[in-house]
Amino acid sequence: MTKLRSQSWFGRQDREGFMYRSWMKNQGWPHDLFDGRPVIGICNTWSEFTPCNAHFRELAEFVKRGVWEAGGFPLEFPVMSLGETQLRPTAMFFRNLASMDVEESIRGNPMDGVVLLMGCDKTTPSLLMGAASCDLPTIGLSGGPMLSGKFQGRDLGSGTGLWQMSEQVRAGAMPVEEFFQAESCMHRSKGHCMTMGTASTMASMVEALGMSLPGNAAIPAVDARRSTLAQLTGRRIVEMVHEDLRISRILTRQAFENAIRANATIGGSTNAVIHLIAIAGRVGVPLALDDFDRLGSTLPCLVNIQPSGKYLMEDFYYAGGLPRVLRELGEAGALHRDALTVNGKSIGENVAEAPCWNPDVVHTFASPFKSNAGIAVLHGNLAPDGAVIKPSAASPQLLQHTGRAVVFESIEEFHSRINDEALDVDESCVLVLKNCGPRGYPGMAEVGNMPLPPKLLRKGITDMVRISDARMSGTAYGTVVLHASPEAAAGGTLALVRSGDTITLDVARRLVQLEVDDATLAARRAQWKPPALPERGWQRLYIQHVQQAHLGADLDFLVGHSGSRVARDSH
Ligand code: FES
Repeated sequence: MTKLRSQSWFGRQDREGFMYRSWMKNQGWPHDLFDGRPVIGICNTWSEFTPCNAHFRELAEFVKRGVWEAGGFPLEFPVMSLGETQLRPTAMFFRNLASMDVEESIRGNPMDGVVLLMGCDKTTPSLLMGAASCDLPTIGLSGGPMLSGKFQGRDLGSGTGLWQMSEQVRAGAMPVEEFFQAESCMHRSKGHCMTMGTASTMASMVEALGMSLPGNAAIPAVDARRSTLAQLTGRRIVEMVHEDLRISRILTRQAFENAIRANATIGGSTNAVIHLIAIAGRVGVPLALDDFDRLGSTLPCLVNIQPSGKYLMEDFYYAGGLPRVLRELGEAGALHRDALTVNGKSIGENVAEAPCWNPDVVHTFASPFKSNAGIAVLHGNLAPDGAVIKPSAASPQLLQHTGRAVVFESIEEFHSRINDEALDVDESCVLVLKNCGPRGYPGMAEVGNMPLPPKLLRKGITDMVRISDARMSGTAYGTVVLHASPEAAAGGTLALVRSGDTITLDVARRLVQLEVDDATLAARRAQWKPPALPERGWQRLYIQHVQQAHLGADLDFLVGHSGSRVARDSH
């Protein structure tokens, strides 16, 4: 076996070797731990500002048990943690920054393999991106979803329930006191959002990519079997180091195609599109926006979970979880069954016997929950490089619609005008929001599912066509066109839309079109000015280098990988 990477620190017999070991010994580690056993980094996104990951120090203890059992030496280290509900301006603004932290923390420290502890939305892609650029043996472990929310005798899903109740409050149909009571009922245990929002989607992507042990996506955070999975993950990473099973052997084109198809069949978040493209970019796998439409849009949704359905992640786990969905995909010929996973087996082998215990939660291809449910990629002059819509979360009657644009230049303008009873809008209009893309917000906020005007809510209107360069929470729903690329702040056609223009959405034709002639658009473009660049700091660097949504919104200089070799190997 080749010498372990960590031995170029701990195996040295010189002054530097003394320094590497001696300072570590202040933690009480005996000398024999530096004898050449695999050093396993546990990359922890624990933070009390990231409530979805606040139990990760406990979870790490179970990983350590497994590492010790397998003869490894576990060392836990923190990286930037991104709490979706707390961070301003938006957690996505920091995804790439966190990925740099992860990449350099792994590369710069004496570790041979790494366990990624991931939960809240952006913590999963940031860790996978950073680890992929480094390419050590790597295994993922998600923190698990919260238990189902319970309120007034019924289930209450993260985010989805909030969007529904806040519209009821705005329509005068729910007292605000009741709304506040729901706060402690929605999130009542450790874990991440328990709808099929971005966190559960990305945990499912981790499993579908083959980056975790089977079952990772859905075991509730507080279920003892989550701790067991953590312990088994710790054992397995030590074996992976001995086998030199690196992340680049797992994250292949086949793995990404499996993930795209799995995302369609679980009714997963539109955010997965951006994150999967960004992760693929780090390992050098070509993945295009149109791959999502080509591979996934005609697949049925098999999983009856909010926001597309009615159940929650706890129910999904009890019904069989993602292994059952992957088995269905495999039996339908829509899974690369021989794609390698972190346990050394193929994904087909892992799910061959996966049972289903509740066919109302996990459906079959023969009797799907919804048909043609994958993400559709739209083109047209409003999105020459593409935009996305999730038909399973949209109103069928609006999937082909022509309406008058009501335009908001920024999210601040939207908030200041949407409640105005005098706003010139009816349910046939198309709400257009600009300057919420990667550069414009900056950070591409989850504001694409704009709340409807109260006067229409009171009429019983529950959905309208909405178009923006923003993202949408994975827990949200509606006929919402997202990620329009190029974005308004980059001079996309979206920047040129004016109130009163006509817009056509035709999902069957994959079209999103501004019905304004080219000469008029050219005249408007001549008047358009790009937003000013901030003077300093991360915001300046980010805006200068962030790529557009259809490319994954990674920084241009972070795309690709550099391996695990450090530039200088001694002091
Ligand atoms: Fe963390 Fe939803 S807010 S997963």
